[in-house]
Amino acid sequence: MALSRCIQKCAPSDKGELAILTNPNSSEIGGHMSESIPNSGFQTAMSVLSHLYLSPILGRLIRANVPDLLDGGAVDSEELAKQAGLHPLSMVRALRALTAFGAFREVAPGTFANSETSSLFRHDGGLRNYALFATSEQFLKSAIALGHSLDTGQAAHDHALGQKVWEYFRDHPEDNEAFNRGLAEIRTDEQAAIAAAYDWNGVQSVVDVGAGAGALLASIVAGNPGVRGILFDRPDVLPDAEHLLKRRGVRERCELVGGSFFEPIDVQGEVWILRQVLHDWPDAECRSILKRCREQLNSGDRLLVVEMVPVPGQPDAGIALLDLVMMMFGGEARQRTEAEYNQLFASTGFGPARAIGTGTAFRILEAKPG
Ligand SMILES: C[S@@+](CC[C@H](N)C(=O)[O-])C[C@H]1O[C@@H](n2cnc3c(N)ncnc32)[C@H](O)[C@@H]1O
Repeated sequence: MALSRCIQKCAPSDKGELAILTNPNSSEIGGHMSESIPNSGFQTAMSVLSHLYLSPILGRLIRANVPDLLDGGAVDSEELAKQAGLHPLSMVRALRALTAFGAFREVAPGTFANSETSSLFRHDGGLRNYALFATSEQFLKSAIALGHSLDTGQAAHDHALGQKVWEYFRDHPEDNEAFNRGLAEIRTDEQAAIAAAYDWNGVQSVVDVGAGAGALLASIVAGNPGVRGILFDRPDVLPDAEHLLKRRGVRERCELVGGSFFEPIDVQGEVWILRQVLHDWPDAECRSILKRCREQLNSGDRLLVVEMVPVPGQPDAGIALLDLVMMMFGGEARQRTEAEYNQLFASTGFGPARAIGTGTAFRILEAKPG
């Protein structure tokens, strides 16, 4: 789950996220300080430290619909604050800070407009749901508690919020919706690329376990007229899946099944998918999930684990940030290497995986019953 641009959009290729970490246009921090201390390590440190307070102000502006209010063009800050119901001076200062990082534009003193980035946060902008999740109280409180994960190996989320992440989503429908829809929003073009990277010839049914709103399954079914989809997830995810599959025109070729992958999964299919599911869990839970899948697979059926897979010795900022989000939400949950996945497969009745590149940040690990 990238801020990870997020949870996923914590992607390596995500210019916005990395721009913040590498101090893009920051005249205050970069420019001024560099005169006295010409030290890029210092500048990077200040930039990283400033990251924390950008999320709450951005989240407040999005919830006050500022990106939508700027949709028709630049607006004077007095008028904008009135329409948004925000404190005028504070709003200007927040917008200026975000403008310094490229998220908005100040076209004349005190008059603001959307940038390419802030346009994404409009209702139909393509990243609003993900932004609501990544700036939520749940996300920010968990991030602040990350030190607890370093001390104990436990999920910062559970320490900060007093319950596990999926229980929290069950009890907070708005956060649940922002998460489910947000994950489907990010990497929209990558869904089709992942779907196209696999040979679906002769496949009639695909089970996507922990599919979320079903963005990947929709791409697979849409691109392969002979394939029927079975979407399996927690019952409270299914309304968002219903919404997405209808919108993508594939609802009638998909079955929605609510349940838990820690219980017997009572569905059948030739190809089973776990995309960004195992990274949410420590090893013991991964083995339980894999065993639940394995007991439904016949010989000849296949399991596809789709993840961003780190390569030892090749640091990747996007994968590393996503890995921190996994630590935050799941303790020892993490981005695993191919060798680590093969160990999980070997202990749950699967043979070693065949790795398939997708031309995206994701790899497909295809495992067959061993
Ligand atoms: C990180 S999301 C991945 C969603 C989707 N596969 C994707 O790649 O966008 C993990 C998914 O696991 C589901 N999940 C969590 N616990 C579950 C459980 N016990 N049984 C079934 N699904 C579960 C969540 O609801 C969520 O949709």
